[in-house]
Amino acid sequence: AATAELIKSLPKAELHLHIEGSLEPELMMALAAKHQVTLPYATIDDVRRAYNFDNLQSFLDLYYLGASVLRDEDDFYRLMWDYLCKCKEDNVVHAEIMFDPQTHTERGIGFEVFMPGFMRAIAQAEKEWGQSTLLIMSFLRHLSEESAFETLEAAQPYLSMITAVGLDSSELGNPPQKFAQVFAKAKSLGLLRVAHAGEEGPAEYIWSALNDLDVHRIDHGVRSVDDPALMQTLAEKQMPLTVCPLSNIKLCVFSHMREHNILSLLDSGLLVTVNADDPSYFGGYLNDNYHALAAHLPITPEQIKTLAANSFKASFLAQDKKALWL
Ligand code: ADE
Ligand code: ZN
Repeated sequence: AATAELIKSLPKAELHLHIEGSLEPELMMALAAKHQVTLPYATIDDVRRAYNFDNLQSFLDLYYLGASVLRDEDDFYRLMWDYLCKCKEDNVVHAEIMFDPQTHTERGIGFEVFMPGFMRAIAQAEKEWGQSTLLIMSFLRHLSEESAFETLEAAQPYLSMITAVGLDSSELGNPPQKFAQVFAKAKSLGLLRVAHAGEEGPAEYIWSALNDLDVHRIDHGVRSVDDPALMQTLAEKQMPLTVCPLSNIKLCVFSHMREHNILSLLDSGLLVTVNADDPSYFGGYLNDNYHALAAHLPITPEQIKTLAANSFKASFLAQDKKALWL
């Protein structure tokens, strides 16, 4: 109970959250009915039962299928609004939220549909309770670099609303270097950079994210333990890792939470943070991830406080705003 109180009371930042992965089964079914989209689920329980994954790809297949119900501006508003309400509940005072444009543009739904929906929810949460939010535009790495360039081009009118670019989707076989040119272009436009690396892929992909994409953070990065030289570099640079405990268990990156390496990463001096990734698919929002760590690992209250403080250190907030929370 004392741990639950601590987790709840600590102000936190969320740095690795896919907005499409916060689509709850209830909203998915309601939007499917609204737009007459056919899903292979009859009930909300069917949806939940389908969420048993063997690996990243088996999750991604259902994640893209679920996203197919998002069609008009109001849908994207509702999706973002529901997530921001969870932030308020969890004392997530700042959220850096990823969205996957290509998941929508490939279906003929453009920036002019989802961006106003997102921004309406973000402005409302800012006004109602001072929620701090910024957006990360993520490229799908199973698609070509040319498609990522087209996405960056389509985003031009909205760049003032976008802080960083990211890289997600199927990691194995799609190394960071595949996107070196488009990340260089994003950098030249003033965008910051993050990339998923070392979730299922090897430590080599983390090196590539650092060296070829010039990232400010590594999303996941748990495979860094396989390479001592990499661990040393990550520690020296204080390169943040956005670790997602419940995600790693649901996608079989670790066989059980007891086996998770987050505390050993922390003990090795890395700037580790806790994040939710795709909360509706993986069984919980940010505080649930902290609770899962506390339930299965010998984590101390000091380590919980460190992880929460790290979330601000690793954020893209300006130094004076970070200081408010440290
Ligand atoms: N897209 C949404 N969640 C993801 C994850 N955990 N890894 C890669 N791509 C994703
Ligand atoms: Zn992710």
